Amino acid sequence: MKIAMVGTGYVGLVSGVCFSDFGHDVICIDKDPRKIEMLERGEVPIYEPGLDALLAKNVEAGRLTFTGDLATAVAGADAVFIAVGTPTRRGDGHADLTYVMAAAEEIARALTGYCVIVTKSTVPVGTNRKVEAAVRAANPAAEFDVASNPEFLREGAAIDDFMRPDRVVVGVESDRARAVMADIYRPLFLREFPIVYTDLESAEMIKYAANAFLATKITFINEMAMLCERVGADIKAVSRGMGLDGRIGNKFLHAGPGYGGSCFPKDTSALARIGQDFSAPCQITETVIAVNDKVKRRMIDKVIDLCGGSVNGKTIAVLGVTFKPNTDDMREAPSLTIVPALVGGGARVRVVDPQGRREGEALLPGVEWMEDPYTAAAGADAVILLTEWNEFRGLDLGNLAAAMAHPRMADLRNIYPAEDVKEAGFEAYVAVGRAGYGLET
Ligand SMILES: NC(=O)c1ccc[n+]([C@@H]2O[C@H](COP(=O)([O-])OP(=O)(O)OC[C@H]3O[C@@H](n4cnc5c(N)ncnc54)[C@H](O)[C@@H]3O)[C@@H](O)[C@H]2O)c1
Repeated sequence: MKIAMVGTGYVGLVSGVCFSDFGHDVICIDKDPRKIEMLERGEVPIYEPGLDALLAKNVEAGRLTFTGDLATAVAGADAVFIAVGTPTRRGDGHADLTYVMAAAEEIARALTGYCVIVTKSTVPVGTNRKVEAAVRAANPAAEFDVASNPEFLREGAAIDDFMRPDRVVVGVESDRARAVMADIYRPLFLREFPIVYTDLESAEMIKYAANAFLATKITFINEMAMLCERVGADIKAVSRGMGLDGRIGNKFLHAGPGYGGSCFPKDTSALARIGQDFSAPCQITETVIAVNDKVKRRMIDKVIDLCGGSVNGKTIAVLGVTFKPNTDDMREAPSLTIVPALVGGGARVRVVDPQGRREGEALLPGVEWMEDPYTAAAGADAVILLTEWNEFRGLDLGNLAAAMAHPRMADLRNIYPAEDVKEAGFEAYVAVGRAGYGLET
């Protein structure tokens, strides 16, 4: 199969690399010349574990190339995937389809023979039909079908998710297009990963419904965490006791500083707007959005309480600012709410993150970037564990406490047992949904 991938970001690049590893002939296109230049030099513009090696292997094998020239890449392709961004549209919360529709029109003009135009971007219900109409309008003679193929990979584990998916969803309405999609995903089908064929609208809905459900699960446990703090229960025990129930499952049941990232915030917002447009309000999702916002703000109060009522003049070390570990993605990270509030409150904030600096420098003005947790904690008044990178899971708590002016910790990922923190010499500790100690009342 000859595949063109339009949009070489987190999803397009991983998908392109993995499709080439399946044995297909893949060309990745991006309109950002900086990205293409880096990729042509063999550099990977994002941090994603394992991606550099798999990319190099497939470039070497001659199956994977990069270009800024969409027309040449699309000509002769069996399938063209659209993997451009669908961010929240300014002002109204809808998904912004500008990039998808622009890509569709460009693709239309470049088609040379039968081709399946596959939307991999997360798009609202009805978008694939709009893509079809736009292509038809731009190139009435074109021979093509559209297909919806939403992506479920998680940043940080993207290659494994792509190569060993729970399922592949394909919305498709002609036998010819279905045959092309089946050929593309044959290596997964042969290994018995389920492929769910649906109509276009159902495929589009599956992606939003799945993400809204996961965001709901996280938000539910964060709400339970707040109640646990009030009633003296431990959210870790509650999560474990709940999660062992096979109907519930233990994933996405870890209390923390609220969901963020490139998908959940924008997809819950878009789903809420779709529900309103179709007079079928998604009230659970609307509530999840509001509660998640409160959860993030509650974390700021925790840090202020930890610092004795004000962060003004305090030195605070923040460990981890990416929205989750093993990615450099800062989009909608809880740190973008919490850190500016601390800086605005007069704190001197030092930040450590294994991969977040490149993106984070512009997004977190007024902070000092440091290389390791112990240097950041030296002379500090509090340390905040915000993203659970492995580097922060096995800290020498005794050394950390000894370096600090006031050893106090806000463990917003519930990594350390309070007893261990106390034993290491910390005078105060707060977590999420569990008892802390040492707070001034
Ligand atoms: N990031 C994730 O974890 C994830 C997971 C599942 C689904 N998705 C969905 O996948 C889509 C892409 O997300 P992403 O995180 O990869 O976005 P991204 O911003 O990392 O990448 C999008 C890329 O598309 C390029 N682009 C835009 N218009 C173009 C055009 N006309 N021609 C060529 N290139 C163009 C941009 O320059 C950019 O490099 C979104 O709809 C998102 O919701 C993302």
